[in-house]
Amino acid sequence: MTSGPKTRQMFRRAQACMPSGVTSNYRYWGEDTSLVIKKGQGAYIWDYDDNRYLDYRLGFGPNILGHANPVVLDKVREALSMGNVFALTHHYEIEAAERIKQMTGVDLVRFANSGAEATMHAIRIARAYTGRNKIIKFEGQYHGFHDAVMWNTFPPEGSYGYRRSPVAVAQGSGVPRVFADLLHLLPFNDPELLEKKIKEDWGDIACIIMEPIMGNCPSIMPREGYLETVRKLCDEYGIVLIFDEVKTGFRIAKGGAQEYFGVKADLVAYAKALGGGFPIAAIGGIKAIMGEIGYLKIPQGGTYAGNAAATAAACATLDEIAAGALDKVNAHGTQLREGFEEALKRRGVPGFVQGPPSMPAVILTDKEAVYDFREVMETNHELYARVIGRLLEKGVMPEMHPREPLFISSAHSDEDAAWAVSAFDEALGEVME
Ligand SMILES: Cc1ncc(COP(=O)(O)O)c(C=O)c1O
Repeated sequence: MTSGPKTRQMFRRAQACMPSGVTSNYRYWGEDTSLVIKKGQGAYIWDYDDNRYLDYRLGFGPNILGHANPVVLDKVREALSMGNVFALTHHYEIEAAERIKQMTGVDLVRFANSGAEATMHAIRIARAYTGRNKIIKFEGQYHGFHDAVMWNTFPPEGSYGYRRSPVAVAQGSGVPRVFADLLHLLPFNDPELLEKKIKEDWGDIACIIMEPIMGNCPSIMPREGYLETVRKLCDEYGIVLIFDEVKTGFRIAKGGAQEYFGVKADLVAYAKALGGGFPIAAIGGIKAIMGEIGYLKIPQGGTYAGNAAATAAACATLDEIAAGALDKVNAHGTQLREGFEEALKRRGVPGFVQGPPSMPAVILTDKEAVYDFREVMETNHELYARVIGRLLEKGVMPEMHPREPLFISSAHSDEDAAWAVSAFDEALGEVME
């Protein structure tokens, strides 16, 4: 879909002052297709030609209550009237940390500004605590823009070797090769390979960092018992288990994946839904580890970490989630899942919807299920792109990249779901003609 004239004009202006006209590489869609957004409200966003889109990207997840939620905005305004950054603790910070503890069951919390910061801190804390250096990371998972983890999120076909010994592929240039030496890459959902690797190398493995659901590899769920096995191996070999809940936290359940699956991590990284659209992240965890963070021991901090606006946004967002906002999110997601699967069947397109209702993903494949990144690479990405392209033309906006699920907010209505389902059905019909 090509952008309209006013949007394109704004994009040219953006290109004159920002590389590719964007502030994150993932926002560049193409010379004549990238959008510039004028506003967002509830479940919708508008471009500069006043085209309206039903937004299933939600800024890659954060806007769990929809865009410009008035409860969140009021709380942020209230907080800003007292100033924003003090280099000292303030009450919104305490209140946000108390809510996180209560909802997730972590013992202690530190704040940061982005998911990447949270996973970076969590890895360092794990290394400090264990006195070991290496990390286990799974193919197809994403943990942010820092060197330790910028590997094998969605490497090109044919670049990543054999599944028992994956080749480390950086997500671009500028990531020093030495970081690959600190990494064990493994396929997700394979307990035997994980156990083998741990038995061979446990003496230098500080942590396993994992998205409990593959939020960056179309919402692949863990196999029955897999997370329990990971937990058990970590306990047996003194390895810190880090759940990266940047996408799942406060979205798939009030207490995130720990509650959803009933498996506890040692450290957890939160961001996205935590701030309802404002930049905040948190590292939470058990007291035995988090309690060791401190001056001249384990470093953690940041000038804007725990600022008033962001922590106030978190307080308001978490209160709405505690009061039941996820019920609406889940109902909408269930409606989408059922409608999309019916449409696939009706149109004779092999595929299914996977993942929890708050972040479902459409998989186009003859297989009945997919369990890791390599299997996702064998699904029909070309058809997927054509279907999503048609959806976009109709004003329904999931992410174009097949690794992202759809993100749903409590502002998405039943009518929106019905419309999205009929648009999906029409899109399938058009591409299959
Ligand atoms: C699972 C996961 N971890 C970490 C990050 C990085 O978060 P941020 O973009 O806020 O740095 C992301 C971002 O999409 C993510 O999906």
